[in-house]
Amino acid sequence: MSGKKSYEIIDHEFDVVVVGAGGAGLRATLGMAEQGLKTACVTKVFPTRSHTVAAQGGIAASLGNMGEDNWKWHMYDTIKGSDWLGDNDAMEYLTRQAPKAVYELEHYGVPFSRNEQGKIYQRPFGGHMQNFGDGPPVQRTCAAADRTGHAILHTLYGQSLRHNAEFFIEYFALDLLMSDDGVCEGIIAWKLDDGTIHRFRAKTVVLATGGYGRTYFSCTSAHTCTGDGNGMVARAGLPLQDMEFVQFHPTGVYGAGVLITEGARGEGGYLTNSEGERFMERYAPNAKDLASRDVVSRCMTIEIKEGRGVGPKKDHIYLHLDHLDPKVLAERLPGITESAKVFAGVDLTREPIPVIPTAHYNMGGIPTNYHGEVLNPTKDNPEATVKGLMAVGEAGCASVHGANRLGSNSLIDLVVFGRAAAIQAGKTIDRNASIPEVNEKSSEKILSRLDRLRNADGSTTTASLRDKMQHTMQEDAAVFRTQETLKNGVDRMSAIWDQMSDIKVTDRSMIWNSDLVETLELENLMVNALTTVVSAHARTESRGAHARDDYPDRDDKNWRKHTLSTISDKGKVKLSYRDVITKPLTDEKDGGISLKKIAPKARVY
Ligand code: FUM
Repeated sequence: MSGKKSYEIIDHEFDVVVVGAGGAGLRATLGMAEQGLKTACVTKVFPTRSHTVAAQGGIAASLGNMGEDNWKWHMYDTIKGSDWLGDNDAMEYLTRQAPKAVYELEHYGVPFSRNEQGKIYQRPFGGHMQNFGDGPPVQRTCAAADRTGHAILHTLYGQSLRHNAEFFIEYFALDLLMSDDGVCEGIIAWKLDDGTIHRFRAKTVVLATGGYGRTYFSCTSAHTCTGDGNGMVARAGLPLQDMEFVQFHPTGVYGAGVLITEGARGEGGYLTNSEGERFMERYAPNAKDLASRDVVSRCMTIEIKEGRGVGPKKDHIYLHLDHLDPKVLAERLPGITESAKVFAGVDLTREPIPVIPTAHYNMGGIPTNYHGEVLNPTKDNPEATVKGLMAVGEAGCASVHGANRLGSNSLIDLVVFGRAAAIQAGKTIDRNASIPEVNEKSSEKILSRLDRLRNADGSTTTASLRDKMQHTMQEDAAVFRTQETLKNGVDRMSAIWDQMSDIKVTDRSMIWNSDLVETLELENLMVNALTTVVSAHARTESRGAHARDDYPDRDDKNWRKHTLSTISDKGKVKLSYRDVITKPLTDEKDGGISLKKIAPKARVY
């Protein structure tokens, strides 16, 4: 049966609805529930299957357990890593709160690996240095072997249950309920196992829906990483930020895309080309294989382009761990030892792993302040927020990663800002206020869209259109970009967007309809892909992960600014810009960081 009138709605009322149950979603859920806020967590997969489970190497915090470290060095590295596009207030918040957030995790029960003194074990990671970038590399990344995300996710889920958060598992969030005057009043979700429709009315919605790695053909992200929250925000007419900045991780397994943690190089692994040369020594004499990951990915790509790739097609690079003590591999890197065997057929105690830069992380997303509140900047008020709406984790853009994220700054972003959102909600939610009334107009709009896609009867299958999108992004919005590839990307992605009107969904049922789930996900992916290429095409400079052959230099005069993109129903992307926040939370006289220290300069490792 089709027609939106046939959808019955089951209503729920909460103080807070968190959408997504990865590290950020669970940390926000736990923080809200701990304060006694009536909290729902709505998630399309079982919480411990969220993509955070795949995070390997660790979580950055300047604990100083393995040598000298402090939050100012961490802040400096994060600013430099961001290629001076991150917001300094948010980066100070992240790095100052990081140790506290990690110790909280430890007390919640995360089974961190230990050093000889029994303290949390920390390993080196790319771009994390001592002495304001001068080096040597610092051991700042706290690890639970190479299964850190797994450990965090299980602990946070258990703790959230302990505090009576209510979980709505395998519910697909369709869209935001928005009032006419732009207040977020909840969401509507589809329960996948019985086909019922649920309206969650709430004082605050927190989007923690993760990244959109699946816009690319080869990525380290789970199949569930389809940028759903970004799609919801864009359909509400709100902007996305800095979508052009897509991170390629240097070491995805060649052919499979599966992640081999940067922790492998942190433990002493190194890269070689077809001449057996440790080529990173040439490009980054100081940090070598532990340079920032955008730098390493570009160097690998240059080696391959210049004919020094390995393998029969000379199209990848080797990562060596065969020189390491097998005891270290077993203790510190058991997960990738197994992944190398399963996905590359390699015994890494004897042979190198074939690797290639692989799409890994989205620096851009839903713009927020450092409390997690979603921004809708206007000319008069660049800090204007959307009432009732927050975003955290990879879906959000605070912006602590700017143009490039340092490895292990993602897990810390998840917990620091999941926690920050809960702290802010605790202060701003009026517990005596009533829950928003039923919004029929917004509900109807959401269900019409569901109904349109459910009954879509064109001639293009979801899988074929997704494949076209993924190949287009892979070819035209890659590690290196030019005017030509990006223009091509904009034209091809626009044509692919138009083909959504010819989509065909074959299954009309409401129960376990994976065809419809994938089509809803594809609409979300399209929003992300198109805003990414259009934003990238417009940015005529190289900065962080956005590397243009035709504009090889960073241009701070014209481009030290955030891109904001909105997209219409017809796929028309409109760009505007917002200033980077250059003022930290505290300056030198209050024990903070000196502005001179963090002023832009050439980024060398
Ligand atoms: O290499 C890794 O373990 C990935 C970490 C990260 O992206 O932060």
